[in-house]
Amino acid sequence: CVKRIETVKDLKEAHPQHMSIGFVPTMGFLHEGHASLIQRARAENDTVIVSIFVNPLQFAPHEDFDRYPRDIERDLEICASLGVDQVFTPTVTEMYGTEPVLTTVHVRELGDHLCGASRKGHFDGVCTVVSKLFHLVQPTRAYFGKKDAQQWRILKRMVTDLSMPVEIVPCEIVREADGLARSSRNVYLTAEERARAPLFNKTLRELHKALSPGKPVADHLEKGRAKLEQSGFRIDYLNVYDNEKLTPLICAPTQGECLIAGAIYIGKTRLIDNLEWHIS
Ligand code: PAJ
Repeated sequence: CVKRIETVKDLKEAHPQHMSIGFVPTMGFLHEGHASLIQRARAENDTVIVSIFVNPLQFAPHEDFDRYPRDIERDLEICASLGVDQVFTPTVTEMYGTEPVLTTVHVRELGDHLCGASRKGHFDGVCTVVSKLFHLVQPTRAYFGKKDAQQWRILKRMVTDLSMPVEIVPCEIVREADGLARSSRNVYLTAEERARAPLFNKTLRELHKALSPGKPVADHLEKGRAKLEQSGFRIDYLNVYDNEKLTPLICAPTQGECLIAGAIYIGKTRLIDNLEWHIS
């Protein structure tokens, strides 16, 4: 006789997944940040799949798609040393075919501020490629770095809103000893720019210290911005944001947490970083 199922929980239990798949989507040129995601996926799943795909859909025409750093041989060695089972390295045609992409995924509101404000369409590109990868890989869990604070929150919402059967696992930011967040784009920095770069994280840490519950944030932000500008950085944004809505806050919250986040240019290189502020 036919079985009627009325809840999502019962539906899932009717088709239990016996082998868990941990998935780490990347654009390659792997570093310690990616490695930490892979290690966590390895520890928590039966199978680990990494994808390496520089996704043209998430780059604006003036951005660095063509010169984005690539070293597939080195990446494969790193994946092998970390015990990855499969590395998926599709070409652009393999992913998108030859017809124009007519279907995209857009998460409203969460992309209005932070990087979404200056990189129009970027998160639609991210959501679209990550949706495709989720359909292809069918992971149990997918691992994302908190370095891209807006990215993992948007993807988490996408998965919830569209009932995608995958758990988004946010992972801590991996930094250099001097505080600079690891990034594939750090190779763009000249030696002189690299030497100045830690000031970005230092400024975020000072802001983190300066905030107090319920108190205005504007003066602290002005000081932070001035300091960065004096050192020759160009600021895209530096603000305190609501942890869930990702809207700028005028005052630090009186309960829960908020996000202190920024994007700056050092020369031609755009770097992002953030810290979570929890009320202790
Ligand atoms: P990519 O920049 O290669 O980053 C892949 C994953 O590594 C992301 O989840 C990112 O947040 C994480 N990551 C990068 N630097 C990190 C660090 N220092 N500490 C911890 N995690 C770090 O993000 C993308 O690729 C793309 O947008 C992608 C999700 C693959 C879609 O194309």
